[in-house]
Amino acid sequence: MRKPLIYISRKIPSDVLEPYQNQFQFRMWQKEDPVPRSTLLQEIEEAEGLFCTLTEKIDRELLQKATNLKVVANMAVGFDNINVELAKEHGVIVTNTPDVLTETTADLGFALLMATARRVVEANNFIKNNRWDNWAPFLLAGSDIHHKTIGIVGMGRIGEAVAKRAKGFDMPILYHNRTRKLEAEKKLGATYVSFDDLLEKSDFVVSVVPLTEETNQLFNEAAFQKMKDSAIFVNISRGRTVDEEALIHALETKQLKAAGLDVFVNEPIKGEHPLMKLDNVVCLPHIGSASMETRTKMIELCLENISGVLLGTGPKTPIN
Ligand code: NAP
Ligand code: GLV
Repeated sequence: MRKPLIYISRKIPSDVLEPYQNQFQFRMWQKEDPVPRSTLLQEIEEAEGLFCTLTEKIDRELLQKATNLKVVANMAVGFDNINVELAKEHGVIVTNTPDVLTETTADLGFALLMATARRVVEANNFIKNNRWDNWAPFLLAGSDIHHKTIGIVGMGRIGEAVAKRAKGFDMPILYHNRTRKLEAEKKLGATYVSFDDLLEKSDFVVSVVPLTEETNQLFNEAAFQKMKDSAIFVNISRGRTVDEEALIHALETKQLKAAGLDVFVNEPIKGEHPLMKLDNVVCLPHIGSASMETRTKMIELCLENISGVLLGTGPKTPIN
């Protein structure tokens, strides 16, 4: 009997496919760079399962060609790269990778918050550039983290995990969602506030909201103006939740103290990007979930989801 074909849009270790080789045939993009759109559009014509990453757009054009497709497994928890409603209309199940990356992404978010507040990258570069001549009272003095107020926008799985870390630093916790989370309030001592209140009262504003039509450019000029000029903005959600020009302006004019960013409007950014020229910004190349352990779990979960759909036992983490 013909084995269902699964297309894998990124190079992943072939040993993770071993347990599935008897049931499925695999085709994998073999280079380190993302698969070209034209290749993906060609491959999708035959595939019954697609393993993809957040750099692939799963849109109308692709779904129209995907006449055999039954499941798309996104190797990310965020799924703004996929037209989920349209996939449903085409009878395609979409899955993501929640939970397995929560703690790892919160670790990175907190690392970014700390690195930005305490000027860790700047200080490292200071030594590298042979500029450390003396100890001085205010040499590379940053901002305290402990006992400062953190405001979490998007108190979901990762938001709660960030709050758990903040609790250990004795930070008062404010949060904003569309709905209140009474359980989290009790467990973490967090206080629900409006978006504007959060911006006005927080020393650290951390964005962990999914990118949707509602959150597109949520952090705009008006939002940055409401924040304290001593505040630090941390974004581990998606670049497009931010009006990047407004952010750059706020940082350049010291309306905002600093920013720690894992995500950008147009990824990848390069060294000449205006954000990279600012000393009060720490930029990371979208590595929120990038530990060896977690990335391995994400790959395994994608394969379990595809196999569950194609073998009829059901996906573990469906979106639609
Ligand atoms: P989640 O559990 O679904 O949490 C998202 C939270 O955002 C929910 O509590 C939701 O609450 C809130 N939210 C949604 N729309 C909102 C709006 N318009 N205004 C205010 N709050 C809103 O998701 P998660 O697992 O924590 O992941 C969150 C996001 O993090 C992902 O979507 C992804 O974009 C990003 N992420 C980035 C990385 C990275 O590498 N940097 C890694 C993992 C995830 P309500 O529904 O009540 O509003
Ligand atoms: C990464 O950005 C994710 O959404 O998992």
